[in-house]
Amino acid sequence: MAVRIVVGLGWGDEGKGRVVDLLGEGAAAVARFSGGANAGHTVVIGGETLVLHQLPTGLLRDGVLGLVGAGCVIDPAALCAEAEALGERGSDMLSRLLLSPRAHLVHPAYRVLERYDEKSRGPGAIGTTGFGIGPAYARKYARRGIRLEDALDRSLLEGLSKTAVEEVAGMDSAFDLEAEAAVFVESALRLAQQARDTGPVIAELAARGETVLAEGAQGTLIDPDHGTYPFVTCGSCVAGSACVSLGFGPSLVGEVVGVMKAYATRVGAGPFPTEIAGETGDRIRERGREYGRATGRPRRCGWFDAVLSRYAAGVNGCDMVALTLLDVLDELDEIPVCTSYALVPRDAVPVGRTLGRCVPVYEVLPGWKTDISGERRWESLPARARDYVEFLEKRTGTRIGMISTGPERDDIIHRR
Ligand code: IMP
Repeated sequence: MAVRIVVGLGWGDEGKGRVVDLLGEGAAAVARFSGGANAGHTVVIGGETLVLHQLPTGLLRDGVLGLVGAGCVIDPAALCAEAEALGERGSDMLSRLLLSPRAHLVHPAYRVLERYDEKSRGPGAIGTTGFGIGPAYARKYARRGIRLEDALDRSLLEGLSKTAVEEVAGMDSAFDLEAEAAVFVESALRLAQQARDTGPVIAELAARGETVLAEGAQGTLIDPDHGTYPFVTCGSCVAGSACVSLGFGPSLVGEVVGVMKAYATRVGAGPFPTEIAGETGDRIRERGREYGRATGRPRRCGWFDAVLSRYAAGVNGCDMVALTLLDVLDELDEIPVCTSYALVPRDAVPVGRTLGRCVPVYEVLPGWKTDISGERRWESLPARARDYVEFLEKRTGTRIGMISTGPERDDIIHRR
């Protein structure tokens, strides 16, 4: 298989990190194709929890090559700091990373712009991660962005950085912008040494019969085209964008794997029809450790939404789905699943502003009330847990080939 793409089918935080880490075994290269420092991918290896933001998760495997596509936005200072914080492991990972010269850079002034933008929205604020992601993409499409290739020339980069600082003059930055701009320049110059066209690297690996794993960040429901607009991120996070971002043709795609959680979560603002208020939601949050890895914010928790998940699986053309965090539901007596919205036809999924007006219709399944954590065999799962998985398969029209039952690398059931 040439390229295998892994994408999130929810609002992000589906547990892609560990699925990517597992599927990365045997891959010659792993590639990020969207987003930037807003991502937070968690992997637990031998009891040690590692959270990666801009470094591709698959780079945790020795000797693998890492790629970052043109559709990503790179915060150079944060990327260097992330590698440094991981010590020797981080510098080794960074040395195996190749960055598209066409990827845009996130200047610290963009965080200032973002704060103002969010404030100006009042109660309609998006609830962004605050890492300047939106302004970086906005400036890219306004043709005012700074790209990694600009860092191949110090004076060009310094000029662009100076302009970015000047543009926010008079705005309250809440941090030392001049100092951060200086770190931005030095970090970008350092990373520019690793600039490389990603498309030819992938084509060459494919020609040699190697596999490249393209790891998605965020999730389909916060994709700017297909997500719950305007409460979305700005990088395209659906499977098709892997080709666009990394610069290879769709003919190289061998498999698309979607990752969905056994329940739903959302961080930030925006409609969430199946959100659970009160104690049950709190219990799921605690059992699932549902706090943002990039920001620490508590995630909103809800029941599985088969309408949105089916839609998301379709947008990505998933060959297989990995269902994560099934063990989090172990203690529940009953588990509602949203299978339709009142008065909404099945083929007109309202993912925009009108989603907030939709009333979910639930089918209620019995809980299995058994500790399944760490279970690795499908046959050993309680019948009701298997029924739940098969019900989700049927209602989402997907094939669930992997099920995670705990945080460790091997707490996983492979099916069929
Ligand atoms: P931004 O990406 O910082 O612009 O944030 C836009 C929206 O996407 C906010 O609701 C964020 O909470 C959400 N978001 C961005 N990245 C992630 C992620 O990795 N997981 C979950 N939500 C995210």
